Parts: sequence; structure tokens; C-alpha cells
Amino acid sequence: MASVHGSALDGSCTVVVGCQWGDEGKGKIVDVLAGDVDVIARYQGGANAGHTVHVGDQHIVLHQVPSGVLHPRKRCLLGNGVVLDVAQFFGELDDLAERGIDPGGRIGISTRAHIVFPYHKALDLAAEDAARDKIGTTGRGIGPAYEAKTGRRGLRVADLLERGSVVDKVIRGVEWARARLRELRADPDLAGTVEEALKLSHRLPAVATDVGDEIARALKEGKRVLLEGAQGTALDVDHGSYPYVTSSNTTAGAAAVGTGIGPTAIDSVVGVVKAYTTRVGNGPLPTAFDDEMDKVVRELGAEFGATTGRPRRCGWFDAVLASYSARVNGLTGIAVTKLDVLDTLPELKIATGYRIEGLVQSLFPAGVRELEGAEPVYETLPGWQTPTTGARAMSDLPANARAYLQRIEDLVETPVVMVSVGTRRSQVICRQ
Ligand code: IMP
Repeated sequence: MASVHGSALDGSCTVVVGCQWGDEGKGKIVDVLAGDVDVIARYQGGANAGHTVHVGDQHIVLHQVPSGVLHPRKRCLLGNGVVLDVAQFFGELDDLAERGIDPGGRIGISTRAHIVFPYHKALDLAAEDAARDKIGTTGRGIGPAYEAKTGRRGLRVADLLERGSVVDKVIRGVEWARARLRELRADPDLAGTVEEALKLSHRLPAVATDVGDEIARALKEGKRVLLEGAQGTALDVDHGSYPYVTSSNTTAGAAAVGTGIGPTAIDSVVGVVKAYTTRVGNGPLPTAFDDEMDKVVRELGAEFGATTGRPRRCGWFDAVLASYSARVNGLTGIAVTKLDVLDTLPELKIATGYRIEGLVQSLFPAGVRELEGAEPVYETLPGWQTPTTGARAMSDLPANARAYLQRIEDLVETPVVMVSVGTRRSQVICRQ
């Protein structure tokens, strides 16, 4: 199975996972790799994600629909690990159709995926409002929807398909939300919620499917499958900077659980890292720039959240986090994005360790207070101060840019298989 994308797609089933705090540019990497696969499936998260893809003159931001949808003829799936905002999903599909991209029968949603209802959003906002230590959520109802799932109060796509009993189930959900909102001293208007929640469910039968079965059959037929993660490793509910995390497992292990295949079906894992680090939402960012540098890189990299428009905090590349991500995700390759954003900087730093209470360590700590107090130990590399946006092969990159990538590769002990130097598909370099 020859691949035009070199060593990134190693085997039939590849996971693409974020290795920092989300916003690594996974959408762009998936968009490029999607050309070489038959099926693309998202495995967790919901409309909190924001994948920005540039195709021709079009600048498309997708939250709920997988970014692979922009490739004609590819099957795009949302696995059971995803939480589905039905209105957002069909809204995005309609918007794509207006732009002349009609995914028609190419899109499928797991019957086991849980639904995000409008009252989950109300709960999300009220909980943030009431919290002393705010997480800085996207307000998309993600936490409350996953809470309902693990609390065994959730409703799944399969429930919405059972028209007879669904209204009662939604009413119970609304009542539960009302009681909880009262405790939070919030009083949003939930009138009309049941009707709104069910308004678009008549469109679900056309897209509902058994995602695990579809993927297993595709693999059996020798097809290629890409499993697309949302957010990033440091936002994983188990492995991230808890409690400043999202409410799902974002890491590669969740790709099997969140789609309904076994872990042995996965052949390779591409970890996406930005050439520097960013974070949106609250919580520690050990390699954060000082204010002046933060402003410079935010402008250079247009670092504003795709979902909320919030400015992202920016910092140096953190090899402690990237190495941890390599282990947690079992990376077989790294994709480094936005290298061009660093083109004008005279020198660059990479964090190789954290000094915590006087001791230097290379492990990403579990305790959020430790992470907050971590002082990065930096190594300084010369910048290249040459534009890289025209590079189409590794050999086109300036020597110092190649040295920077080599240092990342050495520290993370994982080969760099892709590099992006701009927003266009043609600006993603794949190592052969
Ligand atoms: P939630 O997922 O909306 O509950 O937000 C929890 C945390 O994850 C917040 O810090 C958000 O800013 C962050 N977050 C959620 N989705 C994304 C994303 O797609 N990119 C970056 N950060 C995200």
C-alpha cells in the first residue's frame, strides 16, 4: 500500500492525536492524510473542538463534523466516544452543502454516541460561573454531557431513534438539569428545551450507524482508516493537567474505545505538536512567554481560539510534555506544525526539564500545583531568520530549522514525519 505521505501512515489504521494543550493543527494534518485513506473517524470530544482547514480560497472551521469531510468520496464517522450536539452537527452539514461540499451519504454517527442537549450547555456555563477555580471551558456543554454519560443518565443516538420513549427521557434530563441549576443558583430559561432538543432528530436515522462494525469491515477489506483525536494530551481527563482538562480521554488509547475497535487494530500513531506551545483556557503553562514575546508570537501565529475566539497563551516548545505525550500515546511519528511562525525569531528555546522545588526532572508531573510551580530548564538554539513558507521538502528548509526539528526528534525520541510551514495543503511537508 504505497502512500504519498511517506512514513506518517504506517499500516492500515493510524491515529492522529494532539500532544500539547489542543490547537496543535490536527485538522490540517488530518486533512492532508485523509487524501490517502478511505475512512476517517473522530473518537472523542464534541463541538468544543475547532478544526480550521483552508481549501482553495475557503477558510472552513468545523467543530462537530470531522475535517476529513472535505475530501470527496471519504467515509467520515463520529465514534461512540464523541458527544454529539445535534443542532451544531446538522448546522455544519448544511453550511458545507451551501459551499458546494455535500457529504451526502458519506457521513455516519455511532448509535452509541451520547447527545449534548441545550441544558448541558446551561449547566456548563452555570458551573463555570459558580466555580472558585474556573476551568475556562468552551461552554459547549461537554463536561455535563460526559458527566451524564458516566452517571448513566445520558441519552444516546440510539435513544433518539426510539421515538416512543425519547420524550420522557429528555424530560427527565431537563428536570435533573433544573434541580442542579437551582443548586448553582442559576435560572436559565429551559422552556421549549425538549422541543428544541428533539427538533432535528428526524435527520438522525439517515446517519446513524455501528461505527466499530464499519471500521472493522473496512480494515478487513484492506482499506485504510484514520482515527482523529480532538483537544490534546495535556487536556486528557486522566493524563492531562487535571483538573484543568476536558472531560474525555483525548489520548490514542481512547481511539479504540471511542470507535469500537480493539487496540490491536491500530498500527501507527502520529502525534501533532506545534513548533512552540499554546494554551487556551485556564491552568498552568510552564513554558509561557513573557508578555511582550507572548504578544509577538500570538500575532505571528494568529493564536486565537477557533471555538471561542479567546486569545491563546503562547510559550516555547516543551519537550517534557512532548516526551510524556510520546509515551502516553505510543507515538510512531511526530507532525510539527506552524514552523514558519518562528521564521523571524533570532533564537529559540526548548524546555528539556522542569525544576520543581529545586530538583530538575524530566517527567510531566501529576500534581497541578507542581506544574504551576515548575520552572523550565531551557536549551537555546539559533533561529533561521529565513522564510520557510515556500519549502516543499525537508531539504528546502534552512539548516537551523532542520537542526531545530532534529533536536525535537532527539528529545522526544520519535521521528518527525511531517512539518507544516503554512495554512495550505501544499505547505505540509511529508518525509518520505
Ligand atoms: P471543555 O472541553 O469545553 O469542557 O473545556 C475544558 C478545557 O479544555 C478548557 O481549558 C478549554 O479551553 C479546553 N479545550 C476544549 N476544547 C479545546 C480545543 O479544541 N482546543 C483547545 N483547548 C480546548
